Amino acid sequence: MSRVPTIVLGGTGYVAGELLRLIAAHPQLQLEGIMSDGSPGELVARAFPHLAPLYPDEQFKSQAQIEALLRQERAPAILAAAPHGVSARLIDALLTTAEKAGNAPRVVDISADFRYATAPAYEAVYGHPHGAPARIGQFTCAVPEHLRELTTPHVAHPGCFATTILLAAVPLLALDLVEPQLFVAATTGSTGSGRKPVEGTHHPLRHGDLYAYNALTHRHTAEIAACALAASGVAAHFAFVPHSGPYARGIHATVQAVLRRPLDTATLLARLTDFYAHSPLVQVGDSPPRLKEIVASCYARLSAVSDGQTLAVMSVADNLNKGAAGGALQWMNRLQGFPETMGLTAAAPGWT
Ligand SMILES: NC(=O)c1ccc[n+]([C@@H]2O[C@H](COP(=O)([O-])OP(=O)(O)OC[C@H]3O[C@@H](n4cnc5c(N)ncnc54)[C@H](OP(=O)(O)O)[C@@H]3O)[C@@H](O)[C@H]2O)c1
Repeated sequence: MSRVPTIVLGGTGYVAGELLRLIAAHPQLQLEGIMSDGSPGELVARAFPHLAPLYPDEQFKSQAQIEALLRQERAPAILAAAPHGVSARLIDALLTTAEKAGNAPRVVDISADFRYATAPAYEAVYGHPHGAPARIGQFTCAVPEHLRELTTPHVAHPGCFATTILLAAVPLLALDLVEPQLFVAATTGSTGSGRKPVEGTHHPLRHGDLYAYNALTHRHTAEIAACALAASGVAAHFAFVPHSGPYARGIHATVQAVLRRPLDTATLLARLTDFYAHSPLVQVGDSPPRLKEIVASCYARLSAVSDGQTLAVMSVADNLNKGAAGGALQWMNRLQGFPETMGLTAAAPGWT
């Protein structure tokens, strides 16, 4: 069987770089082109020197070059890592070109553009008109572990904070273990803010420091609550306090809630283990999970404790991999009919 021709959007961005690294190791995907808005014609290895051994001669393509590819390829994979507010319009243009040629790409979008069920819901949070409202119904937003039957041709990845938090929160709600008010503290590394340096992500400010930002007002809170409702059937309130951590990769989330009825730690761990029994990329253990156990991998790790009245679930995932590129490839595997974990099972390096 020939490999699926694969298009990457998001050019010189961090998530696009991680997509390229993972695609090179994937047995059934073949990079066909990577689009760059700002650097078409430049060598990929210039933007990503660590990928030079994998892509010594590959050049970034313009949108016109990508559209030419989409006229030729019958059923390519598109992995989109463009900024929100750009992604929907770009994906719509590319899908329209492909469809006019009689082709049917499958898309996984890693931006926030297709995470909401309606354009007004998106516009209320992001403050600008949605780029392709007619396409919203073609996308489903979910963590792959939380949705078995996919009914749309395309998928919206829920994002890095959302993935890490939902992996902890959804079993608690779906199994009716807790009151539907969840208190979440989560810390992300600096790659979560993307390649373009801004004051808040500048190394001297961030290194050796730890601070909260957008406490209880972070824009991803509504996306997390919507995904939790779709996955568990429970409308829960998420009190979310994000933090900036002094490291490059990984998210650590602690989700706390009041138990509906007494439950000891051993039983709680058994319920979580059971919930993820058929999810090989999610591991439940009895010791607090650490970032070094998952950084640069597509694995997430959970652990939990109960004091009989309340519980705390700790969850770790790599923001660029499981929380973006790897999670998107996990969805693309399913869209293509491949085993869900294909190309994604390499262990974390451990010392990063
Ligand atoms: N970083 C994370 O941990 C993470 C996790 C989950 C989801 N996400 C989402 O994934 C997407 C990419 O994130 P990132 O961290 O890789 O961001 P990034 O490092 O800032 O990269 C985004 C890239 O998009 C391209 N771009 C900018 N303007 C564009 C335009 N008008 N048209 C087309 N492309 C444009 C740019 O590359 P070119 O100029 O070369 O095209 C830019 O380098 C975002 O939507 C983000 O919210 C990020």
